[in-house]
Amino acid sequence: MHKPIDSAIMTIFGITGDLAHRKLLPALYFLQRDNLLPEHFKIVGVTRRNAKVKDIMESLEARIKAMDTPCDSAILKQLGKKIQIVSMDLTSKDSYKTLKTTLDTIETTEGVCLNRLFYLAIPSQVFEPVVKLLGEAKLHTGCQHHTAESRLLIEKPFGFDIDSAHELIEALSVDFTEEQIYRIDHYLAKETVQNILTFREQNPLFKSSWNDQHIKRIVITATEKIGIEGRANFYEHMGALRDLIQSHLLQLLALVIMREPARTSSEAIHAAKLEALKSIVPPADDLMDTMTVRAQYEGYRDEVENQQSNTETFAAVRLTVDTEGWRNIPIYVRTGKNLTAKDTEISILFANEGSPAKNQLTIRIQPDEGIQLGITIKKPGYEAATGIVHMAFRYEGEVASEHPDAYERVIIDALKGDKTLFATDEEVMECWRIVQPILSAWEKNRVPLLGYKPGSSGPESGETADSFLLHLTHPRLETLPIITTQTSLGEDESN
Ligand code: BG6
Repeated sequence: MHKPIDSAIMTIFGITGDLAHRKLLPALYFLQRDNLLPEHFKIVGVTRRNAKVKDIMESLEARIKAMDTPCDSAILKQLGKKIQIVSMDLTSKDSYKTLKTTLDTIETTEGVCLNRLFYLAIPSQVFEPVVKLLGEAKLHTGCQHHTAESRLLIEKPFGFDIDSAHELIEALSVDFTEEQIYRIDHYLAKETVQNILTFREQNPLFKSSWNDQHIKRIVITATEKIGIEGRANFYEHMGALRDLIQSHLLQLLALVIMREPARTSSEAIHAAKLEALKSIVPPADDLMDTMTVRAQYEGYRDEVENQQSNTETFAAVRLTVDTEGWRNIPIYVRTGKNLTAKDTEISILFANEGSPAKNQLTIRIQPDEGIQLGITIKKPGYEAATGIVHMAFRYEGEVASEHPDAYERVIIDALKGDKTLFATDEEVMECWRIVQPILSAWEKNRVPLLGYKPGSSGPESGETADSFLLHLTHPRLETLPIITTQTSLGEDESN
C-alpha cells in the first residue's frame, strides 16, 4: 500500500551550508516543480548567519542553472514562500525555545498538526549537542497536540570508528527512538540501487543462479573524477574507506548478497540486509597487505596543507562472506577520488567450475545507468570462432529517463515515514565491524600508503597486493563495441 505524503514542517539545520545548497534545496525545488510536496508544508531554515530567504533563493537559482536545468522563477517564488529563516546559536538552550515557538506558531497558522522533521545538514561533530538541546526543548515529542511525529534526519558519517559510532547511537537514543531516526545513505535512494533486488528476484534466470555455484566474483567500484573539492577538514578526518566503503559500498554489497526478504516491508528488508552484513568477513590480520590497498593522489598533501597526511583518497579491499551460498567467492570493494572518470557499478562474474565460459553482468549505478550482460556467441562467418556480445539496457531513452534524484526520494520517504531506504543503527554498527580491523591495520602503517597521479586509474602496483585492488578502469556502456574482437574466452574480460 502506498503511504501518503504527510503534512510537515522541515527544519533544516545548516540551510546556508554546502549540503543544503548542493543537494537539499535543489531537491525541494524539483519536488515543488513536480507538485509533490504536501499541501501543508513549511521549511524552517536554521543558520548561525544573518541570511535572508532572498539570499537563499538567489543561490538556489544559481545552483539550478549550474545543473544545466532551466530555472522557473515562479517555482522559486512558490518555494521561497514556504521558507522561514531562524538565525540562532546552535549551542544556546534559549534558541531552541524560540525554535519551538516558531514551529508552534506555524502549526497554529496552518491550522493542522504537522510532523516535525529535523534535518541536520551540519557537521557530524555537532550532532550530539544539537540533538541533546532538541530533546531538552521537548522538540522530539511531535506537534503541540502530540498527534503528529518528530523525526530526526542525519547524514553520514555516523561516527568516526566503531566506538564513536556506538557513542553516537547511544547519545541520540536518549530522547529519540530508533523509529524516529532516519540515517541517510543517499546511495540507497538512487533509482538504480533500488533496482538491484527487483532485478535479482524478478528474473528467474538470475534468481536461480544468484549464489556461489554460478557466481565466481563480485566487484563493486565507485570511482570519482572529482577530488576533495575544498573539503579539507572533512576529508582529512575521513579518508576513502570511511567516506565511501563503510557506508555506501557496504550497503550495496548487502543488497547483492542478502537473501530474498520474506516480505517487502521495511522491517523484513532491514532484517535480511542486517543478516547479510553480519556474514561479511574483513581480511584476516596477517593478510591486510595483500587484501587491502590504500593510496593518496599526488598533490593531496599540498591541498590539505599537511605534509604528513596519511589520509587515503583511494581504498580497495577484498572481503569474503561466511554464509551458505556465498562462502567461496572473492568480493572486491573499491573507491577513489581524482581518478579517470566517475563510475559506480557492480560487476558480477558468472562462470562454471572447470569451464572457461562466462557471463559478466554489470549493474551501472551512475552515470549511464543501466544493466549490461556479456554473452558468448559464435562469430558470424565460416569459422567456428566465438566472441562476446554485450546486451545492454540503459535507463536513458528506454524507461522514464526522468527519475527522482536520491535526495528527492530521501525527502519524500522521510515525509511519508517510510524507513526502507535509510540505514538502521545495527546496520551502521555492522559496517563499522567490517572496516574497523582495516582502519586499525592502516593506522599502524601495516599496509603501505601508495601514490597515484591525479586523473589516472589509481596506483599502478603494490608489492603484494591482489591486482584487482589496484588501477580501476572499466569501459563505459556507450563505448562498448557490439561485438568485441575477442575470439578466445580464456581471457578475463572484466576490469
Ligand atoms: C558522499 C561523500 O557521501 O558521496 C563524497 O562524502 C562523495 O565524498 C559522494 O563525493 C559521492 O556521491 P555521488 O552520489 O556523487 O556518487
